[in-house]
Amino acid sequence: MATEQDTVEIWNTYGTHQLTRGLQLPELDRWDWGIPETGPGINALGEVAGLRVLDLGSGLGRHAANLAALGAKVTAVDTSPAQHQRALTRYQDHPGLHLVCADAVAHLHAADPYDLIYSVGSVPYLDPNRLLSALAKGLKPGGRLVFSALHTNSDSAGPSNEVTPRPEILRLPGTTQDHPVNMWSSACSCGKTSWSSTASPWNRSQRSTPRRRTTQSPTGCTRPAVRHACRAVPAPTHLPRRTPPSGSV
Ligand SMILES: C[S@@+](CC[C@H](N)C(=O)[O-])C[C@H]1O[C@@H](n2cnc3c(N)ncnc32)[C@H](O)[C@@H]1O
Repeated sequence: MATEQDTVEIWNTYGTHQLTRGLQLPELDRWDWGIPETGPGINALGEVAGLRVLDLGSGLGRHAANLAALGAKVTAVDTSPAQHQRALTRYQDHPGLHLVCADAVAHLHAADPYDLIYSVGSVPYLDPNRLLSALAKGLKPGGRLVFSALHTNSDSAGPSNEVTPRPEILRLPGTTQDHPVNMWSSACSCGKTSWSSTASPWNRSQRSTPRRRTTQSPTGCTRPAVRHACRAVPAPTHLPRRTPPSGSV
């Protein structure tokens, strides 16, 4: 938890910086998964109207507001008070949207289960050893989990076979100030490793996505993909070294 807490403090620095800048980002005109104009779009979530939905690590809250406008009952949880404040400043009275400042794992243990949990770029900041069991509890049977995670870090390293955090750089937008954060970038579809082994209780209890025959991954694994309840949306991005792992969100 200490590693995660350090990273949360950096996100708080980031949020405070964005509050101070007063940057006004436009509403989403096309759903993205962290990297604009790439990826499958909102269709990856399926039908959302009437569903109880959690946005995990919601930041400014634009995705959550977008889904609420489509008729979902959305809770947007972010553990950084500054990021939460950014969302409150913009969406406090947004119909269908409930903004919560809390650790996502604590929230999942306390809240009633959700029909759909999604996350745009935030899952890799949480230790899967504690996150995945919370997701198992936090999703209704048959519920859906959809998240995006960077495929390649700023050092050009692909997903790791080990469930271990590795350093990444977060740059404060509009500055040259870099901050170290930690991310778990695990090879999520690869045999016995990382996501699949830590996710096993949850794999058994939830609906599977269609099986792919083989998996190509930078780790060289060609095993058939295991059945997952989740759909991981890869951001097919190679980040040039020292570019922040997320845009100006
Ligand atoms: C890359 S940002 C993504 C923000 C938002 N999903 C978006 O795309 O605009 C990651 C967010 O995860 C949040 N976060 C990190 N650890 C968290 C935790 N344990 N619980 C909830 N939120 C967390 C950070 O505060 C930050 O706002």
